[in-house]
Amino acid sequence: MPQTSQSSWTYRDEELFCEDTSLTRIAASHGTPAYVYSKAAIARNFHAYEDALADVPHRVCYAVKANSNIAILNLLAAQGAGFDIVSGGELYRVLAAGGDPHSVVFSGVGKTAAEIRFALSKGIHSFNCESEYEVGQISRAAVALNTTASIAIRVNPDVNAATHPYISTGLRSHKFGIDIEAAAELYRRAAALPGIAVEGVSCHIGSQILDTNPLLEAADRVLAFIERLRGEGLTIRTLDLGGGAGVAYRSGEQGAHITEFLERLKEKIQGRDLVLMLEPGRSIVANAGVLLTRVLHVKENAGKRFVIVDAAMNDLLRPALYQAYHEITPVERPRDETRCQADVVGPVCESGDFFAHNRELPLLKPGDLLAIETAGAYGFALASNYNARPRACELLVDGADVQTIRRRETYEDLIRGESIPTVQTFVPEI
Ligand code: LLP
Repeated sequence: MPQTSQSSWTYRDEELFCEDTSLTRIAASHGTPAYVYSKAAIARNFHAYEDALADVPHRVCYAVKANSNIAILNLLAAQGAGFDIVSGGELYRVLAAGGDPHSVVFSGVGKTAAEIRFALSKGIHSFNCESEYEVGQISRAAVALNTTASIAIRVNPDVNAATHPYISTGLRSHKFGIDIEAAAELYRRAAALPGIAVEGVSCHIGSQILDTNPLLEAADRVLAFIERLRGEGLTIRTLDLGGGAGVAYRSGEQGAHITEFLERLKEKIQGRDLVLMLEPGRSIVANAGVLLTRVLHVKENAGKRFVIVDAAMNDLLRPALYQAYHEITPVERPRDETRCQADVVGPVCESGDFFAHNRELPLLKPGDLLAIETAGAYGFALASNYNARPRACELLVDGADVQTIRRRETYEDLIRGESIPTVQTFVPEI
């Protein structure tokens, strides 16, 4: 499994292991489908950032949206991570995980008044604002709560991140941020508002960026902008470059080289008296997780082979939503060299319910286990109950220890919160 985090996923005696735990054993004890995460891989990925930035003022704020399980947030908080949130619910999760609200930045293009009040009352570090209206809203809420809100304004540097159109965000045509040309005026007005302390400039140009040059180009543009604001007498302390570093999903692909990227970024900010903030999500958790699934059966239709598994698009939406590629690895290493092409699909009633099309795979049979790789980011986070399917369990492996960090949902969970109206609707007699 070359695209998953170095040593966390290995074959031992022809069987796939997560750290020191056999995935066959996990499937037997916890059932499938199951998300399995390696604790060591998460910590290692986080430290790639922390270690590279150790000699500059910085804060790595993990993007909660990538995987918001409170055990993972707790693990990252213990490693010293801050958090990037995009909703009141994510703040609630950070707090439930024992995260420090002072380490939280609140991003997102549409924050409600209630979310702003909640964040202010918990004393979050800062807001990344996306419109003048929002800055005004935060100012009013801060005044009402007799506090001061630190803000950055998310500027749009008009750099093409060269990624999937759904996850590219840094062009003028996108809904995100404020055009860098127009932003200076907003900074001037924001600085004059009560309850507002202008602290920094933020940007985020997209996600799954394999070539980090566009990120560095965005940094150049934002740094020039910061100099301009400082020249006008504004105090700018932080540069938040967002998330976006891409990971290898395909065997043989190279993920963004984090250390090299950060070295180049550090050169740019050296001597500028700035705190560098980053909001990585995918690059912290993606290759630390797999979706473990079992083959239900194999069928041929008009000469095409379908491997039907017990996980589906409701568990991992990425292939259906972005035509995303995930490697699929048999948990038991096949003895036989024979390979044949097959579609790997789930049981949901949609043709979009697939994990792979025309994939070269060993001959599989009912009961075989498969690991859908690099599923730790935007996997469970995007899961739903579509087709009334209980969501999978999430398991955290630490060496030979396996902890359930989210139990498998039950049928009762499916209807929790629903009710049948007590007043019957009138049905006229015919
Ligand atoms: N900061 C902001 C403001 C963001 O919008 C995002 C991701 C991040 C940080 C984290 O980016 P990362 O380091 O994870 O690339 N569901 C999609 C990805 C959506 C990304 C949305 N924003 C997927 O599965 O590929």
